[in-house]
Amino acid sequence: MVESPDKPAPDLFVERVKEFNDHDMDTLCEATDAAIIDGGGFGWVNPPGRRALETYFRGVLLVPERELFVARLNGDIVGSAILVRPPRNNEAQAFAASLMHAYVAPYARGHGLARKLTKAVEDRARELGYHIMNLDVRETQTAAIRLYQSMGYVRWGEHPEYALVRGQSVTGFFYYKRLRPRKNGGGQ
Ligand SMILES: CC(C)(COP(=O)(O)OP(=O)(O)OC[C@H]1O[C@@H](n2cnc3c(N)ncnc32)[C@H](O)[C@@H]1OP(=O)(O)O)[C@@H](O)C(=O)NCCC(=O)NCCS
Repeated sequence: MVESPDKPAPDLFVERVKEFNDHDMDTLCEATDAAIIDGGGFGWVNPPGRRALETYFRGVLLVPERELFVARLNGDIVGSAILVRPPRNNEAQAFAASLMHAYVAPYARGHGLARKLTKAVEDRARELGYHIMNLDVRETQTAAIRLYQSMGYVRWGEHPEYALVRGQSVTGFFYYKRLRPRKNGGGQ
């Protein structure tokens, strides 16, 4: 987005959160509601209500395999994404992490926040030693598809009955990205 010369540049910031204050929880739930109403980025088709969202996000912070990243516009949370590490029993896929539930609220789009959010999740996955990032999107999420393809994600598959939205089957696209050069054979 081209910023107007007489408007101050927006303050864009992305970080991992480990706890919320009340304002953060308010803005996170507001952004999530707005993204769900707009049509995606989450499993929910309809906003589940404030209590369910709060419980969900507090739960994310408690799950050892999940890390929550938020995007801030002028200090307020306007989007989020989750880094999901494989469970400890999955030795065969211990090299691969997933990026899930990424979205930016419609009122904060076009500033480059999703790109920053994705990069922050990738950087953290690299820091943790992962070699591959997996993600999936509905075929209708064209902005996300363009974003991930522009960041080097490779589409490896399609699922014709990936989601059911208001009675309609929606195809899903599956992507992966190599986060570090391959050293030898196999998944590593
Ligand atoms: C996809 C989404 C996260 C992008 O958020 P954003 O903050 O506006 O994205 P950015 O400003 O970082 O844009 C990054 C890139 O995304 C793509 N993009 C963003 N908006 C787009 C649009 N309306 N149409 C096409 N491509 C778009 C472009 O490749 C863009 O790069 P460019 O600016 O160099 O052209 C946002 O539209 C969204 O939340 N959509 C609904 C939920 C969703 O699809 N989540 C991802 C899958 S779970």
